[in-house]
Amino acid sequence: MGERLCFPRCRLGRGTGLLQIVLGGLVILVSISSLFKFYSAGFFLHNEDICRHFYGGADVYEGFDIRALTARVGEVLSKMESLQDKLESTVQQMEKNKAMLDKTNISRLEYKKFLEEEVIQPLYNAHIALRQIRLPRIEGIGNTSMKEEPLINTFVIEEIRKYITPKENRLGKINIYGTERIYNTLGHACVLWKKELEEYMDYDIGSYCKDDWILAQKLMINGCDPLPRRRCLTRASKLYLKPYPINESLWRLPDGRNVRWSNYQCRNFECLSSKNPKRGYSKCIGCFELEKEKLKWVTNTSLAVDFLIKDALAIKPGEIRIGLDFGVGTGTFAARMREQNVTIISTALNLRAPFNEMIALRGLVPLYLTLNQRLPFFDNTMDLIHTTGFMDGWIDLLLMDFILFDWDRILRPGGLLWIDRFFCKRKDLDDYMYMFLQFRYKKHKWVISPKSKDEVFLSALLEKPPRSL
Ligand SMILES: *[C@@H]1O[C@H](CO)[C@@H](O)[C@H](O)[C@H]1NC(C)=O
Ligand SMILES: *[C@@H]1O[C@H](CO)[C@@H](O)[C@H](O)[C@H]1NC(C)=O
Ligand SMILES: *[C@@H]1O[C@H](CO)[C@@H](O)[C@H](O)[C@H]1NC(C)=O
Ligand SMILES: *[C@@H]1O[C@H](CO)[C@@H](O)[C@H](O)[C@H]1NC(C)=O
Ligand SMILES: *[C@@H]1O[C@H](CO)[C@@H](O)[C@H](O)[C@H]1NC(C)=O
Repeated sequence: MGERLCFPRCRLGRGTGLLQIVLGGLVILVSISSLFKFYSAGFFLHNEDICRHFYGGADVYEGFDIRALTARVGEVLSKMESLQDKLESTVQQMEKNKAMLDKTNISRLEYKKFLEEEVIQPLYNAHIALRQIRLPRIEGIGNTSMKEEPLINTFVIEEIRKYITPKENRLGKINIYGTERIYNTLGHACVLWKKELEEYMDYDIGSYCKDDWILAQKLMINGCDPLPRRRCLTRASKLYLKPYPINESLWRLPDGRNVRWSNYQCRNFECLSSKNPKRGYSKCIGCFELEKEKLKWVTNTSLAVDFLIKDALAIKPGEIRIGLDFGVGTGTFAARMREQNVTIISTALNLRAPFNEMIALRGLVPLYLTLNQRLPFFDNTMDLIHTTGFMDGWIDLLLMDFILFDWDRILRPGGLLWIDRFFCKRKDLDDYMYMFLQFRYKKHKWVISPKSKDEVFLSALLEKPPRSL
């Protein structure tokens, strides 16, 4: 009975007591994080370091990313500040209504709700954010002078951080590569696409991914390449039918039900026809019409720049077995080559049409690759590189130089480089010709013919010489 009578007063008294404890805790936390702030501002560094820190202008300070660290600490500080403001204003409100305070009852439920939503949740978030900060290791990582893992404080989403963190071998052993840990990699331009990447990596582990390959491709094209791996299950079309047998699949339009169409303008393969003005894509128009594709590289055309596969193979009879088709297309070059018992891998991006799906459904190998990356083949391995429809007069000369040297790297001595209908402005032709000729390949064919009034086509069949140094 006595307890009951005193209840409202006691409860409020206890309430303010709790608040005081919470505020006290906050003061401690804020002090700790202020220490971080001082640290990041260079207060604990030696004189010389301070000079370097303030006048060096570098964001990366002796092996750690001080900007990312400061951003994380700043985030925690602002969370705590707003929590503190909220609590203080609540107390002020109580002060104002002091007279009322004795008389009003706040229900336990209200009190619980207040603590949960206004105090514990923000405090928890701040706590997690603080925990997430990886402080630089003074002794360095491994044998290096790096003080923290690259980019580790740049991303907030836990899944990205888990991905980036190097995975030490179990039991401290050396793995088959002879290294102590495995680094998952991430294109450095991902830093520029932080928001999009965090959206991409925001999923429940083990559940279905969003149907967001288009976001992934956007990230890749913009230099966030390689993209991180994900731990969610990719979606497939509603009803995946078994593909046609290989003797049919090469030259038959695949079943549209085997493609997820939601990110394309079209909803089936027939819609991708060049006759349809609303087909939605602009590169390689007509590629999805197999009766047109069937003519390529096997029938004479009026253009001297069109070489035939049989002529190319005749240069090196029996020697051309594997190769790369670098371009935009639906795999027709690879299909024709397959008929000649040559295995061709076709690069493909899904530029508003399902190029990868089409190539794979034809029974050929699509390589999902952007221009950003070094080719995933070893030196001196390919018998043939064929390129068409991709590189033309838009491409930066320096970029092209890096690409051509990479092609030269993977092409074996005696391998063929088939430049197929490269085109550019007539006035730029000399620059591009120099690009191709600088490697001193043997010229088997070299044809230039006009494309339009001020544009020209260039086709060439070149052979990489031996390079025994
Ligand atoms: C406060 O609660 C007591 C009993 O729990 C009740 O008698 C009283 O009327 C309440 N006062 C107000 C202002 O609600
Ligand atoms: C680190 O240094 C030690 C001793 O100097 C050496 O034995 C070891 O191989 C080094 N580890 C790496 C990964 O370089
Ligand atoms: C493809 O091969 C299968 C068996 O290997 C055969 O039954 C079928 O008739 C062939 N299709 C065509 C179009 O040749
Ligand atoms: C293509 O042209 C060449 C010579 O110009 C000729 O020998 C060959 O028979 C022609 N091939 C076809 C399929 O018309
Ligand atoms: C490809 O290989 C098959 C089986 O070895 C053979 O029958 C066929 O003649 C070859 N085709 C060509 C064009 O060499």
